[in-house]
Amino acid sequence: MAIKWSPITEVPLDRGSLSLSNKMIRLNANESPYPPPEIVLQAISASMHEIHRYPDPSGQELKNRLAKKYHVDPAQIVLGSGSGDLIEHIIRGLFHPGREVIIPHPSFPLYQAIAQSISFTIVKTPLHSNGTVNLNSIADNLSEQTALIIICNPNNPTGGYLPLSDIDAFLSKVPEDVAVLLDEAYWELTDAYDDPDQDSIHLLKKYPNLMISRTFSKFYALAGIRLGYVLTPDTSVSHAISQRLSRVMPNRLALAAGAAALSEEAESVYKIYRSMIQRERTRILTRLTQQGLDVFPSQTNFVTFQWEDSEKILPLNNIAIRPGLGMGLAGYTRMTIGQPDDNERVLNLIEESLNPASTIKHS
Ligand SMILES: Cc1ncc(COP(=O)(O)O)c(C=O)c1O
Repeated sequence: MAIKWSPITEVPLDRGSLSLSNKMIRLNANESPYPPPEIVLQAISASMHEIHRYPDPSGQELKNRLAKKYHVDPAQIVLGSGSGDLIEHIIRGLFHPGREVIIPHPSFPLYQAIAQSISFTIVKTPLHSNGTVNLNSIADNLSEQTALIIICNPNNPTGGYLPLSDIDAFLSKVPEDVAVLLDEAYWELTDAYDDPDQDSIHLLKKYPNLMISRTFSKFYALAGIRLGYVLTPDTSVSHAISQRLSRVMPNRLALAAGAAALSEEAESVYKIYRSMIQRERTRILTRLTQQGLDVFPSQTNFVTFQWEDSEKILPLNNIAIRPGLGMGLAGYTRMTIGQPDDNERVLNLIEESLNPASTIKHS
């Protein structure tokens, strides 16, 4: 007789997009087009020589570095193997039968997938037409049953970003027993990141029900090592999340990479990458808008626009980007900002498909 597992509702996530060959031009998973700085690679190599030892289960050195960067207590930080993993545990941890989670739509598909898998009642709220989360609509849907609100800012898959003042005004209306998870996977790529006063970390002092998740996968170019963290208002929240995680993680290489990524030397390289991505973002947005396409303004390392032919044209040209259908944006395409030559190839293919008679090539 076969062994018997307890029942589980499958989490319907499109993981195929991550298993592509590296020979494809990967503009489908919002990865960094640039490898981590040399100092980070060296830290990973050095830690390989200690790989026979378990990692520090508290991840104290990395927590200390994050705490110094953000002027918080290290005990307010929870580390995990990617922010997605932490988000999953938070959603599961706040589930109670009969209670509701409010999820703006379309947004990062993981939230809905996890909530569905545990039969958490989902209340979906629409976005503003510019692709930002509609906080008024969330406020209108608050009820006695609301246990959790998830806000993705900037929002994936649209790229829209709400300033700190909007989030602050919204949080002041949310009862303290309703948890708010602010997913800021793309925070470091926003223009606001240059101004420390705009950092949502300031809100942790005001709102004991707020949690902020961030990742080393995007700006820090470490998607493959799996490292993310949650910032909490106090140790009671950190403790509640930590208790739900597997015992020892992240792994030793990830901890070493994260600590090195926050060094001054690495941060100066990341800043250069960031300005290259931001420059390309402006260029891509302009070019697509010139083609008359409906384009969402973006504050991230991706751009989403109305174009239905991506699946027909791009894979044939060895390029992977993300069709909007699986993300609740039928007819749209999400393109991760890659290196300029790759972006140019995509732009040319789009322009050729829209203007078949002409063969305009931009230099
Ligand atoms: C909005 C958002 N949140 C969280 C994640 C998860 O990132 P990771 O698990 O790599 O930290 C992603 C990844 O694409 C994302 O887009």
